[in-house]
Amino acid sequence: MTEPTYATIKVSSAKRVGRIQLNRPAALNALDERTMDEVVAAATAFDADDSVGAILLAGSQKAFAAGADIKEMVDKSAAEMRAADWFRRWEDFAALRTPVVAAVSGYALGGGCELALMADVVIAGSGATFGQPEINLGVIPGMGGSQRLARSAGKAKAMDMILTGRHVDAAEAERMGMVSRVVEDGELEAEAKTVAELIASKSKPATQVAKETVAAAFETPLQQGLLLERRQFHALFSTEDQAEGMAAFQEKRKPRWQHR
Ligand code: CAA
Repeated sequence: MTEPTYATIKVSSAKRVGRIQLNRPAALNALDERTMDEVVAAATAFDADDSVGAILLAGSQKAFAAGADIKEMVDKSAAEMRAADWFRRWEDFAALRTPVVAAVSGYALGGGCELALMADVVIAGSGATFGQPEINLGVIPGMGGSQRLARSAGKAKAMDMILTGRHVDAAEAERMGMVSRVVEDGELEAEAKTVAELIASKSKPATQVAKETVAAAFETPLQQGLLLERRQFHALFSTEDQAEGMAAFQEKRKPRWQHR
């Protein structure tokens, strides 16, 4: 099978990690329709690949992504946006079962910030800048920012960022709960790779179910979420990896995951 070729991203894989790097430097990785299609296609292919246990999403040093492509949208009518259900496809990215680690360097604005919010673990370089500046364009976030930012950072911070369009630095983003870890810019790539490889080295059924179950915390009442968690816990006892993981503990050795 020939590998697909992409125009706006670079794709590679090693050590059970599928890596997607946004690659539109002249537009600071602005997310046009083609980029969206390519990111979702590459991520979906990794999601279906048994040899991939985590996806690493990165941008460039200057920009993770500076938002949806404004030049592509400027002349659109409401009817065109609605007919195309503009940005709907990003929901396929949010629905990936494989854990996604985002390595955020530089600008993560608008859709770039929202793409980071779709990731499961966000590692930010100390110089990263997050923001939802759509209000300055006469619009609002459209890739989930109003909902995911409110859920991860709370109403007060979401309103502050979305109504004023103000940028926040990596340290504030971490305090707000948008970011998992902040590292020196020079260490970002290595740290994100280490985290992705660590997740990918675990039992795949366990990491998939863990992602699904934590994600349910944003969708369900507490009792329903707790019941789901218990049932997922019970169901994992049907996997080879549960038997192996617990046997390995008893035998004081490292588990050999089958990822099944
Ligand atoms: N869309 C299209 N092109 C963009 C872009 C975007 N979101 N962001 C940057 N670019 C382009 C610029 O137009 C410029 O191209 P030209 O050289 O052809 O003029 C190139 O990238 C470099 O950008 P700048 O010259 O502006 O670089 P800078 O260092 O001076 O500024 C910046 C960097 C502060 C990020 C600035 O580019 C900026 O404010 N970008 C727009 C940010 C924004 O408003 N994002 C939200 C988009 S709407 C959205 O995302 C909706 C949603 O919810 C999904």
